[in-house]
This record gives sequence, structure tokens and C-alpha cells, in this order.
Amino acid sequence: MWIFLLVLLGLILLYRWHRQNQILENLSDKYVFITGCDTGFGRQLAKQLDNRGMKVLAACLTEEGANTLKKETSSRLQTVILNVTDSQSVSAAAKWVANNVSDKGLWGLVNNAGILIPVSPNEWLKKEDFRKILDVNLLGLIDVTISLLYLVRKSKGRIVNVSSIAGRHAICGGGYCISKFGVEAFSDSIRRELKQFGVKVSIIAPDFFKTEILNATRLRENVTNCWKKVPPNIKNDYGEEYYENYCKFFDAMCSRTSTKLTIVTDCMEHALTAVHPWTRYSGGLYAKFYYMPLSYLPTFVTDYLFGS
Ligand SMILES: *[C@@H]1O[C@H](CO)[C@@H](O)[C@H](O)[C@H]1NC(C)=O
Ligand SMILES: *[C@@H]1O[C@H](CO)[C@@H](O)[C@H](O)[C@H]1NC(C)=O
Ligand SMILES: *[C@@H]1O[C@H](CO)[C@@H](O)[C@H](O)[C@H]1NC(C)=O
Ligand SMILES: *[C@@H]1O[C@H](CO)[C@@H](O)[C@H](O)[C@H]1NC(C)=O
Ligand SMILES: *[C@@H]1O[C@H](CO)[C@@H](O)[C@H](O)[C@H]1NC(C)=O
Ligand SMILES: *[C@@H]1O[C@H](CO)[C@@H](O)[C@H](O)[C@H]1NC(C)=O
Repeated sequence: MWIFLLVLLGLILLYRWHRQNQILENLSDKYVFITGCDTGFGRQLAKQLDNRGMKVLAACLTEEGANTLKKETSSRLQTVILNVTDSQSVSAAAKWVANNVSDKGLWGLVNNAGILIPVSPNEWLKKEDFRKILDVNLLGLIDVTISLLYLVRKSKGRIVNVSSIAGRHAICGGGYCISKFGVEAFSDSIRRELKQFGVKVSIIAPDFFKTEILNATRLRENVTNCWKKVPPNIKNDYGEEYYENYCKFFDAMCSRTSTKLTIVTDCMEHALTAVHPWTRYSGGLYAKFYYMPLSYLPTFVTDYLFGS
């Protein structure tokens, strides 16, 4: 009986492994558009796919980001300046993509741009602080996605959205977790809508990596800024110690970061180049073995673990 179960398990794993390793042909015909290529995951992914021979259309926020990326990649890679919060910039970029891919359509769209600051306990923040993040992480990406969707449908391509473990657990205050929960919701709904068109949607949820977002100095600076602006009565209620611990929580998070960005970008590459992409990838061991499993447990358990 046990032997039978073991053999069955082995066969299932073998089948998964085989399925996972089937890679598409003709990668060099395929166009991929990536947002947020100035630094971090976007930049690493752009280089990686360029190396695989794919035609990368890399969107950067700054001229400097675009120019340095161009120097480090082949002549196949094209760049465009894109500010996802500016709808004119988005429609100009969409037009540029449409021209560049002409009748081939767009094989891949990677929504990667994102910010975390301003971040603090919710009561210390203003509505504007939330708006700033939602504009980039959620509304900006919605704008980019719906502007390019018809090109992705044309090639029965792939959409990859970068979420976070913060899209499963609201581990801090401010707009960041809200935006990532939003990304999870949109991916779910749009995956079901696009199935009929042959488009596959994957979500990548990384844990802690050394990107611009998890910069301990900058995070502490911003929490401190917010704390300074809190009215005295609220300050009194929370107390200095709460503020100190809040800063330490981010220090601890940043000290856990990994420099191996390829753990995440390899997941993205798989989502774009495999015959059978997964719908969900966990980037990193904390995500895979701690945060994802935890998200299936009752709330009182996670409240106990994450509560302060
Ligand atoms: C790959 O490209 C070749 C030549 O253009 C074509 O004959 C072949 O059908 C393509 N294969 C796939 C799977 O699209
Ligand atoms: C992006 O666009 C928004 C809205 O138009 C603007 O407020 C912001 O300054 C722009 N950011 C950059 C870096 O250009
Ligand atoms: C594609 O983008 C490049 C770089 O901006 C541009 O020079 C070229 O004209 C574009 N191609 C088409 C067909 O629009
Ligand atoms: C990706 O996320 C954005 C929001 O961040 C959403 O607008 C878009 O529909 C999502 N796309 C897919 C295919 O999930
Ligand atoms: C972190 O942010 C600080 C302040 O903005 C900056 O001086 C520093 O270079 C950043 N560190 C990294 C590793 O990007
Ligand atoms: C840092 O926090 C303050 C909080 O009041 C906010 O106004 C400011 O915009 C934040 N800094 C950045 C870079 O977003």
C-alpha cells in the first residue's frame, strides 16, 4: 500500500518536472515589454531575456536608467521612457510598442514598477500618502495593462504581475499592502477573463530582496518623517517605544534581504518562456515555506505571529 502511494507520488513529481521543463520554440521572435527597468528585478529580467535572444522592450522611468541598460545589453533591446502615473506617458508608450511589434503582437507584458514609501502605521499617514502608492502600484499598472492587452491577446501571450508576500499578509501600514492585495485581485479576475483568448496570467510573489524598495536607511528616514508629523496627542498614545520598534521591524526585514535577484527573475522567465507556466510563483524560501503556507491558516494564528 505504502509502496504504491510512494510510486504514485514519484510519478506525479516526475510529471510535474517534465511539464515544467518544456520551453517554447522561437523565443527570438517574441517581444516582451517590461516596466520598471531602471533597477532591481525589471533590470535583471531585461538583461536575462535579452541574453535568451528575446526582443525586449524595456520601459524606464529615467533617461539615465535607459541609457545604462542599453550599454549593458544587445542591440535587440529597445528602451522607452515611461512614467506609469502619467496617462499621456502610458498612451505614448503603448503607441510606441504597437509600432515596434507591428502585426506580431506582444508576447509578454511584465508589470514590475512599484514603490513602498511612504510607510508607517496607518494612523500616522494622510490620504495623500496612500494615493501616492496606489497611483503607481495599482492604477499605473492597470493603465499599462489595459492599454496593451489587445496586443497580448493578438499573440495569445503572457502577462506577469509582480505581487509580494504583502499581497497575502498586510505586514505593514500604508498603501503598499493594499496595492499588492489589489494586484492579486486583478490577476485573479483577469486570468479568468483572458483564458478564452489563450492568454496566460502568472503572479510572482517575492519575499525579501536587495532592491531599491528595501533600503533600510530610506525606510527609517520615512518612518521618522511620518512620526515627526504626527500630532502630539497621537504621539503620546503610541509612545516612543512603539516608533522605535516599528523602525526595528524594517531594519530586521532589510537585514534578511537576499542579493540573488535571479531567484525571482528566473520565475518570471519561466512564466514567459515555458509551454506550461504556473499561475503562481513564490520567490524565495520565506515566501515558499513560511508566508504562503501561513496564508491558509486561520486569522488568529497570523495575527499572533505578525501582531506587535
Ligand atoms: C518556429 O519558426 C520556424 C521558422 O520561422 C517555423 O517554421 C516554426 O513553425 C516555428 N515554430 C513554432 C512552434 O512556432
Ligand atoms: C510622473 O507623472 C506624475 C503625474 O503626471 C508627476 O506628478 C510625476 O512628477 C512624474 N514623475 C517623474 C519622475 O517624472
Ligand atoms: C522601435 O523603437 C526604436 C527605438 O526607439 C525606434 O528607433 C524604432 O523606430 C521603433 N520601430 C518602429 C517600427 O516603430
Ligand atoms: C496586473 O496587475 C494590474 C494591477 O496592478 C492589473 O491592472 C492587471 O489587470 C493585472 N493583470 C493581470 C493579467 O493580472
Ligand atoms: C539607500 O538610501 C540612501 C538614502 O536615500 C542612499 O544614500 C543609499 O545609497 C541607498 N542604499 C542603497 C544600497 O541603494
Ligand atoms: C516620507 O514620509 C512623509 C510623511 O509625511 C511623506 O510626506 C513623504 O512624501 C515621504 N517620502 C517619500 C519619498 O515618499
